[in-house]
Amino acid sequence: MILTVRVAEASESAYRALSEAGIEDARREAMALAAACMRVERAYLTAHPDALLTPAQKRRLEGWLRRRAAREPLPYITRRVWFYGLELAVGRGALIPRPETELLVELFLEWASSQSHLHTPRLVDAGTGSGAIALACLSRAPQWMGVGIDRSRRALHWARLNRRQLGLDTRLLLIQADWLNSLRPRSVDAILSNPPYVLPDEWDALQPEITRYEPRSALLVPADDPLLPYRRMAHGACRALRSPGLIALESSPRLASAVAEVLRECGFPSPRVRRDYGGTERIVWATR
Ligand SMILES: C[S@@+](CC[C@H](N)C(=O)[O-])C[C@H]1O[C@@H](n2cnc3c(N)ncnc32)[C@H](O)[C@@H]1O
Repeated sequence: MILTVRVAEASESAYRALSEAGIEDARREAMALAAACMRVERAYLTAHPDALLTPAQKRRLEGWLRRRAAREPLPYITRRVWFYGLELAVGRGALIPRPETELLVELFLEWASSQSHLHTPRLVDAGTGSGAIALACLSRAPQWMGVGIDRSRRALHWARLNRRQLGLDTRLLLIQADWLNSLRPRSVDAILSNPPYVLPDEWDALQPEITRYEPRSALLVPADDPLLPYRRMAHGACRALRSPGLIALESSPRLASAVAEVLRECGFPSPRVRRDYGGTERIVWATR
């Protein structure tokens, strides 16, 4: 319980509450929550320890601390997350974009920079969630148009919000569909996806923030056929992708070589695997 409304004390009480709840990075998170509840940058709190929280801000912070102590992820509480330099809105129903997924954006931008001859090129973000991948790519590749596809209506709500906030309404089409089924043959130039890839035997080892709050359907692969999303994507890409074209799929180190094999079987002759900055096999990609 927070007893005072000076920023310095409120942050300290928040830190203690989160530490007691076993939150690992309690200091940083306490500052983040205090700053978000006052709608200021974190640096402001350090520079103005004597600033006062209004009673409404104090109540909001207390509510947020209870939610965080119950292991709700910080971005669902503040409704904000950073991805590839963009501030995105995110909440229940949409996966929280992860830093490792930024590698997919980098790989796309590298490839796209060598395709300047393409006329109004089009990318697809399959399983777009909050729209993170598509929006980051489009914001850095101004000549591209995009299609974000997701089966989840709740996820698409967040993607629409982000599209509007970033002023990309005219460049990103969002549709509710099953993977690439709704695309016409030879209609797109790049297919990017971060599909579900958590194996059922990995579920119990995940943090409660993930297992209690993030959508299972965004994370878990089917127990009887873990490669199903990849096979669906590869078959769809085979039909929908023009040449030259790029397919790039995020994966886990346990699945990466099998995913490469799936791409090979679907007619992409030389799939490659890119490691993330931690050295983990992360993206399987191919061109044609
Ligand atoms: C791992 S999340 C990725 C979300 C977002 N692209 C990101 O990287 O933050 C996988 C997404 O795929 C969507 N999804 C799962 N099965 C799908 C399907 N059959 N068709 C379309 N989208 C699907 C989920 O709703 C979820 O938003």
